[in-house]
Amino acid sequence: MRSNDVRSSDTRSNDVILSCRGVRKHFGGVVAVEVAEFDVERNTVTALIGPNGAGKTTLFDLITGFVDPDGGTIVFEETDITDKPAHAIARDGLVRTFQLTRILNKMTVLENMMLAARQQRGERVQNTFFRRRDIAHQEAEIKVRALALLERFSLLPLAYEYAGRLSGGQKKLLELARALMTDPTMVLLDEPMAGVNPALGEQLLRYVLELRDEGMTFLFVEHDMDIVMRISDRVVVMATGEIISDGTADDVRSDPAVLAAYLGDHAQEDIAEAEGEQP
Ligand SMILES: Nc1ncnc2c1ncn2[C@@H]1O[C@H](COP(=O)(O)OP(=O)(O)OP(=O)(O)O)[C@@H](O)[C@H]1O
Ligand SMILES: [Mg+2]
Repeated sequence: MRSNDVRSSDTRSNDVILSCRGVRKHFGGVVAVEVAEFDVERNTVTALIGPNGAGKTTLFDLITGFVDPDGGTIVFEETDITDKPAHAIARDGLVRTFQLTRILNKMTVLENMMLAARQQRGERVQNTFFRRRDIAHQEAEIKVRALALLERFSLLPLAYEYAGRLSGGQKKLLELARALMTDPTMVLLDEPMAGVNPALGEQLLRYVLELRDEGMTFLFVEHDMDIVMRISDRVVVMATGEIISDGTADDVRSDPAVLAAYLGDHAQEDIAEAEGEQP
């Protein structure tokens, strides 16, 4: 049970929304991901942590269809999504944000939002029988939805600004708002707080918790343990492609395997540094 919010814990069920079995990805000789078993429960915030290069982003890429696995099965809401492309998975209700934001700087904030919806609407737009009036109607609906989300994320005053003028933190908020354009069931966030100033970061965390309380499920990668401790229902730790620990924030913090993984990371950095210093 989370210590920061006990209100909703009694309403939270234990059903699994996302399930990975034997999911593998190698890049040449590098084992990026080798996950035997990994489940995410519906209506929770799960943190995925681990040293640099642990395979966190690659696991996100595999789950969301941006990279094809070498083996294994990924099931989302009882549908096998292992071989589905990213846009199909997004249509199923599973979306992600990127470690490096994919905001288009030369478009306005509103255009970025509307583009996200159009991209995810996908091939239906190419349907030759699609009438122009229907498209106009859909565009109007998309715009209303975009403006409502921008208002919720305090970005409405910036709707007609070029996205390139936003601060790093505002871009991260916009990226989350964009992900929500299709009304997803589950969102994967890759380091949503990196480079975000504390005030905007707090805002982002608040939105995530609000959305969870409305029924959404989150899996997020975060390096800041204070943040992980504060908002996670559960913490999963990866190292060298594998899941090495799984439990509450307190469980993983006191797990010797986790400590060893992080120490190993620093030890490797020290070795690399020492090697770099050699003539
Ligand atoms: N496209 C790629 N080609 C080759 N190797 C890759 C590729 N993508 C990732 N890797 C390697 O796979 C491993 C896992 O990388 P990944 O980016 O998933 O780690 P991460 O846990 O997200 O790290 P970070 O915390 O630094 O973001 C690393 O060794 C990385 O160099
Ligand atoms: Mg990463």
